[in-house]
Amino acid sequence: MADFDFTTAELPKLQDEELLLAPKYVSVDPYLRGRMRDTPSYTPPFKLNEPIVSGIIAEVVESRNPKFSKGDFVSGMLPWQEMLVASAEGLRKVDPNQAPLSAYLGILGMTGLTAYLGLTEIGKPEKGETLVVSGAAGAVGSVVGQIAKILGLKVIGTAGSDEKVELIKSKFGFDAGINYKSTDNMTEAIAELCPDGVDVYFDNVGGEISDAVLYNINKFSRTVNCGAISMYNNTEAPKSLSVQPFLVKNSSSMQGFIIADFEDKFPQAMQKLAGWLQEGKLEYSETVRHGFENIPQAFLDLFEGKNKGKMVVKLD
Ligand SMILES: NC(=O)c1ccc[n+]([C@@H]2O[C@H](COP(=O)([O-])OP(=O)(O)OC[C@H]3O[C@@H](n4cnc5c(N)ncnc54)[C@H](OP(=O)(O)O)[C@@H]3O)[C@@H](O)[C@H]2O)c1
Repeated sequence: MADFDFTTAELPKLQDEELLLAPKYVSVDPYLRGRMRDTPSYTPPFKLNEPIVSGIIAEVVESRNPKFSKGDFVSGMLPWQEMLVASAEGLRKVDPNQAPLSAYLGILGMTGLTAYLGLTEIGKPEKGETLVVSGAAGAVGSVVGQIAKILGLKVIGTAGSDEKVELIKSKFGFDAGINYKSTDNMTEAIAELCPDGVDVYFDNVGGEISDAVLYNINKFSRTVNCGAISMYNNTEAPKSLSVQPFLVKNSSSMQGFIIADFEDKFPQAMQKLAGWLQEGKLEYSETVRHGFENIPQAFLDLFEGKNKGKMVVKLD
């Protein structure tokens, strides 16, 4: 918490084409941690003494842009501010009558798209196969498992508490789950639940959990490298298994991605997710924190597993 600070600043005067916005929901996401490190990556690091930027749903309070009216709700990458003046570029309208506003940060937003496109484009799931997903009770993981079930796979999830394991089975319909914090031998636990081996591994966490899955992968299996949250706070190089022998002997593939790679597929993916949601085939959970002052703690709590489903902060 000591690395965050709250400051007050005068809002600039609204110019032509700009909007005055009141943020309503702020998304906190593990990937933001990478931008807090001064190293080259796919997006530049945050600048010191400037607000963090993340996915935000905001209400238009005043508009000098003909495409937006007072009372509209918009979604976009915006700074953590209680009020802000913003260009309309990159903002899209969201409809609170179609879905609750917070859903546009999760199941109908970045994490839903990540689950659907990462799984279908890279995991290439086939009916009858076995899928393991780590971070299974989180925003991305819980959706991956449900989509895999819709597509006819057997689905096993790993998560950090018995309560989360129960949630993925009872609410999200997973076949089974493993509490990685109370399991001594993850390799054996996965082998037991996946007697036919693992065909698709959707990896949200990296590290030892992923090593254990590697011992169980099948010939021609696919690993989707979505995230590696177990390593985001590392200060030293991790001691992980060498993946090459596992991939060679199983003719197996492993591919990382960032969701922006699939930007051209967002409309079609969104339609699919919205359809399943409407048909009641997809469920989602949210952990909602309240108050602007609680945004940093909500972000930090992702690394302690204190969320179930998508972590968002509601600005009351
Ligand atoms: N490639 C992309 O474009 C893209 C886009 C979005 C997200 N991601 C990645 O996808 C992953 C999930 O993101 P999300 O937004 O859905 O977050 P999330 O899963 O909702 O929240 C993070 C979860 O990570 C788990 N976790 C924390 N520390 C861990 C550790 N040391 N070992 C194992 N699990 C740990 C916690 O659950 P437990 O209680 O189970 O430990 C926590 O609830 C992250 O790695 C994120 O960076 C990638």
